[in-house]
Amino acid sequence: MAYPKVTIVGAGNVGANAALLLVMKELADVALIDVADGLAQGKALDIMHMRSNEKFGPTILGTCDYADTAGSDIVVVTAGVPRKPGMTREDLLSINSSIVRSVLEGALPASPDALYLFVTNPLDVMTNLAYQLAGLPKQRLFGMGGVLDTARFTHAIAALTGAQPEQIDALVIGAHGEAMVPLPRLSTVNGVPLPQLLSDPQIASAVQDTIQGGAAVVELLKTGSAFYAPASSIALMVAELLRPSGRVLSVCARLEGEYGIDGVYMCVPAILGAAGIERIVELQLDAAELDQLRCSAETIKEQLAASMR
Ligand code: APR
Repeated sequence: MAYPKVTIVGAGNVGANAALLLVMKELADVALIDVADGLAQGKALDIMHMRSNEKFGPTILGTCDYADTAGSDIVVVTAGVPRKPGMTREDLLSINSSIVRSVLEGALPASPDALYLFVTNPLDVMTNLAYQLAGLPKQRLFGMGGVLDTARFTHAIAALTGAQPEQIDALVIGAHGEAMVPLPRLSTVNGVPLPQLLSDPQIASAVQDTIQGGAAVVELLKTGSAFYAPASSIALMVAELLRPSGRVLSVCARLEGEYGIDGVYMCVPAILGAAGIERIVELQLDAAELDQLRCSAETIKEQLAASMR
């Protein structure tokens, strides 16, 4: 059987786990590429050794050469370095900006027609930067952040209500960071809005756990940042791109007037499909929610300006 082809750039924790999920879910053949010689090849071989046990059809090829990524339907970019002690945010921005630049130089000529999904942090800034560098239509270049934040919000709601995740329909939009905008009013458990189920302090605690979710994992791991839930969020977005169900996901998309925000990438509800972002969904936000979203946009614009200095 012929499968679509997905390239994952960066064979670290997030990239390798995303690759594993894509083949195990039978979604795509994967080209896993990294600058570190042998890393992608070793992980790809290890996963291929699982194939007879797990009985999945797709294959993974590990490589350091963009020629092996040619003709991909989707390119997922997880290459980057995490923030280390003593490193400023600007240091991280400048290192990861040059990584994103070199990834595009390698990936774009090999897969000029692909959809590009960015994961490298700081996500909003990196996706904005990639758009400026790549010259691709906005529909074909977007980022992963809101799906992960929504999954963390869902986890916090499940913990407070005892509901199963499939009974919960939650949503987090805005920046992928401290300025994110969880939307309790528009989040439901069995169709009932959160404010009718939980007290204000309970909602505030779920929101806080969501905003601090990534930091909580970093604090526990001590040696890196979250990767299982990020990898799963990549797989969910790739699944919607390859086999669209019409599900609304929080996607880091370029806004050009939606929500009264112009010229910046940030997470908003969107429907994915073969063309990439098929539609941005404009929810009826109340004044406070809209205000939060616009503050989120300002935060991203400030970070973007700082990254250009
Ligand atoms: N091209 C390809 N791969 C690169 C490049 C490059 N120019 N530069 C770095 N890499 C690779 C590294 O060699 C490493 O294997 O990117 C990989 C990153 O892996 P990890 O350090 O394990 O980081 P990970 O936890 O996977 O996170 C990756 O996703 O969620 C975000 O904040 C996270 O920005 C980070 C990214």
